[in-house]
Parts: sequence; structure tokens; C-alpha cells
Amino acid sequence: MLQRLMLKKPLKVLLEEMNGENRLRRVLGPWSLSSLGIGAIIGTGIFVLTGLAAHDKAGPALIVSFIVAGAACIFAAFCYAEFASMAPVAGSAYTYAYATLGEFFAWIIGWDLVLEYTVASASVAHGWSHYFQDFLGIFGIHLPRAISLAPFDYDTQTSKLIATGSWFDLPAVLISVIVTVILVKGIKESSRFNTIMVGIKLAVVLFVIVVGAFYVDPANWQPFAPYGWGGFSLFGTIHFGQVGSHGAPLGMLAGASIIFYAYIGFDSVSTHAEEARNPSRDVPFGIIASLLVCTILYVAVAAVLTGMVRYNELDISAPVSNAFARVGLPWAQFLVSAGALAGITSVLLVLMLSQPRVLLAMARDGLLPPGFFGEVHERFRTPWKSTILTGVIVGLLSAFLPLRMLAELVNIGTLLAFVVVCTAVLIMRYTNPEAKRPFRTPFVPAIPLLGIFSCLLLMFSLPIENWYRLFIWLGLGLLIYFFYGLRHSVLVRSSQGQG
Ligand code: ALA
Repeated sequence: MLQRLMLKKPLKVLLEEMNGENRLRRVLGPWSLSSLGIGAIIGTGIFVLTGLAAHDKAGPALIVSFIVAGAACIFAAFCYAEFASMAPVAGSAYTYAYATLGEFFAWIIGWDLVLEYTVASASVAHGWSHYFQDFLGIFGIHLPRAISLAPFDYDTQTSKLIATGSWFDLPAVLISVIVTVILVKGIKESSRFNTIMVGIKLAVVLFVIVVGAFYVDPANWQPFAPYGWGGFSLFGTIHFGQVGSHGAPLGMLAGASIIFYAYIGFDSVSTHAEEARNPSRDVPFGIIASLLVCTILYVAVAAVLTGMVRYNELDISAPVSNAFARVGLPWAQFLVSAGALAGITSVLLVLMLSQPRVLLAMARDGLLPPGFFGEVHERFRTPWKSTILTGVIVGLLSAFLPLRMLAELVNIGTLLAFVVVCTAVLIMRYTNPEAKRPFRTPFVPAIPLLGIFSCLLLMFSLPIENWYRLFIWLGLGLLIYFFYGLRHSVLVRSSQGQG
């Protein structure tokens, strides 16, 4: 049994599969891929969570949190890039785990990626809703409370769930539906739409940095680290840093573990490897270029924002646009809100584009029903059924669950995927030293080990509930695997046929 669970998919098989039927269209070049990366990265994290993380967790030291989280991502990005260049097929971390750690871990990671993409999409849809309502507010339009929020949220003071007085978040549902429709139509159209959105949001981020810089009051950066520099806890016991309400860690590291969310998405470039024209060169380029650009921009935005408004006065719903309203620039509030809306839309677009592609890879391996998840639309060449299913689930989650809860869950799941990818690169170097690696992670084993270490550090800096949620999620995944995947796995069946 153990042997069955550990069956690996040989790299050769992966590469052969790339030439098979039912493939996606190869239409994406290096700039489209980088733009997809930036499209997936800059969104709710920088436009919404920055306020919350500075206000509740790190203060102005959030600037350093951005550097720490960015470094963890860069280590992981090198590992993603190496894998993506070796096996440029859809499926990302899932496929890499299949080739190195075996089917069981591959399933765990595939299931974990559902957490990353689908749950992240739901949280991003919430961020969109915040800015949409902020935007309407500029014109004096206010949605009825009943349709403006998830029905409950966390009270950070007591860490208890509280009713918000709303039924569900209507704008979040609407944007999920619109993006789903665009995605079913096709990757080429999606990529074009994305490029426009990315242009708008980059312009807005640069605007925030350049114009905002004139309104920075350095006194706002004092004290720089009001919650300290720590935030490390081991399963609920804080070992380094201050303790917040209900035992949640506080400090720069705790801020980094929340704001890590802002970087999520660069890895989604690897899920498009199958649609890249020259995957072994362009995918690593896309991953690393998009991440570097975003790290620099984020650090600058965090510095400007905490310099414009005192950390404990930052708005936690639409902090960037509000900062401009506070310094007396309402037209800039308008501009930032509109740009944030475009920016967040593109994140949603790429994340919801990535999910069905991971499901497609899993279905091809027999771990999910291929009739549903593996079907590529005849005319649009998109995995349309799973795209629609993803849209429905994103819509439901975003309607009813609060942003904070969704975002933390996404972080822990994604960090776990990064740990696995860094580990897999190390293993692959020993088990397949001869394999062609058009892109090689530099300084192996140092970079993958630093990736593993820094991602674990961030996982342990998240509030403890996230570990429980992660275990519940993985437990659910195991049930599905034992009841479905194990019985239908193409690899298990073919190995039994041979044996
Ligand atoms: N990085 C993405 C965002 O911030 C998930 O919206």
C-alpha cells in the first residue's frame, strides 16, 4: 500500500504527455507571462490588507515585513522556475510533487492548491467589493448593508465571531460571475484583458508612490515597530514577540505572515507553462521578473502609506484610497479606487484561470473525474466545466465568509505548497541529476533550504486557528483521495497492469 501511495510519475512520462491530445493553446510569450504574474500579484494584498496588517500587527515595520515575505517568495520562486523549466506542463506544484515525492503528496499539494487559488479568489473578490463600495461612496451611493458584507466577521479585540448585520456580499458575487464568463471564453482573450488591467494598476501604484511621497510625514514612522519585531509562535505558544488578543502573535514577523498574501500569484505563472510559447525560457523569466517588480513596488507603497497616515489611523477596508482622502486629495481617492478595482479584477482573473488548470492536471492523472475536470472546450480550448465550478464556489465563499479568515487560510496553504516545491527541487537534484534543467536554481542547496526555512517561519507566525483549518482541509482531501483518487489513479492502474 505504502508503495502505491509513493508511486512517482517519471519526468519522461510528463514530457511525453506534453505532446498528447487535449492540450491547451501555446500563445503566451515572456511579457504576457510576466504580465499574468503581475496581474495575479498586485491586488487585495496591497490595496486592502496593508491597512489591516499595519494597524493590527506591525505598524510602520510593515515595510520590513514586506521585505521578509518578499525574500521567502523569491527563494521559492527560483525553485518554481527550475521546475517549470524542467516540466512545463499545467499543474504547477502538484505536478512537481508527483514527479518527486509520489502520488500521495502530489494529491495533498493539488488539494492544497485548491485552497490557494479558489479560497484566494474568494478573498480577492471581497477586496474588490471593498473598493467598489469605496468608489460608489465617492458619488454618495451606499449599498444597503444587507448586501454589502459577509454575514459575520472576527472581532479582533475578543477574537469572537460577530454578526455584521449583512446577509451576503453582493458585489463580490457579481465580480466572480463576470470573471468566470470571461475565462470560459478563452486564454487569449483573458490575457489581453489582463494586460490592459495590469497597465492601469501599475500606473496607479506608481501614482500612489510618487504623489503620496509628497505627503509623507516622517513623524508617522515613529514608533517604527510598535508591536515589536517578532511574531513567532509554535502551535499557539508565542516564543518571540508580543501576544495579541486571544493569543495571536504580533510584530513585524506576524505582519509578514499576513502580508505574504500580497505576493501570492507569482507561482500561477507556472500553471500556464503549457500555454507558453517557449516555456523553458519564458516561464522562469515571467515568475522572477513579476516577483521582483512587485517586491520593489510593495516596499515603496508600504513606506508611503505608513508615512502618510499614522499606522493606528489607517483605514482597514480601503486604506490606500482613504489615505489620499485624508490628506485632502479627493480626486486622487477616485483615481486610486478605480485603479484598485482594475488591479484586483486582474488578480481574480489570473487566480481563477489557474485553478481549473491544476484540476485539469489532476483529472488527467485520474485523481479527479476526467469527464468533468479534464474536458477542454472544443471551440474555446478552455477547461470550461471546472472553470464554471470554480466560479460558483468562489462566488459562494466570497458571499458568506469574511476576508480576514479567507486570507489567513490562503496564506498557510500557499506557504505549505512553497515548502513542498523547495523540498522537491532538492530531491530532484539527487534523484534526477541528469535531467535537462533549462533554468537552474542558483546556490543549491542554500536557496531551497532558505525557502523551506522562511516559509515555515511565516507559517508559524500565523494565528493558531489557521493550523486547525489547514488540518481539517487536508483531512477532507485525504478522504477524497482514498475514496476516489486511489481507485482511479492512472499511474496506479498502469503500474498494476505492468506488475
Ligand atoms: N496577491 C494577491 C492579492 O494581493 C492574492 O490580491
